[in-house]
Amino acid sequence: MALNLIGVGFCDEKDITVKGLELVRKCEKIYLEDYTSLLQCSVTELETFYGKPIILADREMSEQGAEKLVEEAKTTDVAFLVVGDPLAATTHISLLNLAREKNVPVQVIHNASILTAVGEVGLELYKYGKTTSIPFDNPNLQTPQKVIIDNQSLGLHTLCLLDLKPKEGRFMTIKEALDILKLHQKVIGCARLGCENSMIKYGLSGELKDFDFGKPPFCLIVPGKLHFVEEESLSLY
Ligand SMILES: C[S@@+](CC[C@H](N)C(=O)[O-])C[C@H]1O[C@@H](n2cnc3c(N)ncnc32)[C@H](O)[C@@H]1O
Repeated sequence: MALNLIGVGFCDEKDITVKGLELVRKCEKIYLEDYTSLLQCSVTELETFYGKPIILADREMSEQGAEKLVEEAKTTDVAFLVVGDPLAATTHISLLNLAREKNVPVQVIHNASILTAVGEVGLELYKYGKTTSIPFDNPNLQTPQKVIIDNQSLGLHTLCLLDLKPKEGRFMTIKEALDILKLHQKVIGCARLGCENSMIKYGLSGELKDFDFGKPPFCLIVPGKLHFVEEESLSLY
């Protein structure tokens, strides 16, 4: 019996790894954490492809209910599915730690993450500084601006993750994020990275506010000092 933390990737039911799929099919209980990101397919499509029923796990079940999940994994093979990578830009490390503390066997199956998918934009991944999140509820929060300034002072790029409340159907748009950040420089807006209909646009903050990026999820990149190869990549967007 074990707790299996499995990344399901970004886009649809076919993004799971072969190893991840084999484990899901072996597990008796399958949970899908449904509050930190968004897939482009429905839960029914996942269930049909995986051949297993899925229980949706909200923040409360995943965080306050972590003890219960770990306890369950003592007697049942449990899969805990996470959009993207299970341990990237999410808080599920505490679930992993808890399982280890309780001596419950735990396995992590990694997948692509937004932290690596931004590589498609053409900025060197090792030249990103601290990642920041832009929240809905505190538009006057100074933290994201400070992170951007600090990264820029070192010539580093900044990935800004935009808040989302999938249950309420709310996904911060690139325009909303730019209105909060009040930047006057060129930025990169991304939508649905890793999916066939992904979109990347590079331009002045004011220009990107008027651009229609289509469906969520979205993120924003504020470039730091650009190498000429990075400039070349951005000129394509
Ligand atoms: C908490 S992070 C995602 C964590 C996930 N476990 C991972 O590894 O990617 C969620 C945020 O990442 C960004 N994001 C996630 N997937 C995205 C995608 N495919 N395209 C653009 N932005 C994305 C959005 O800003 C979203 O609010």
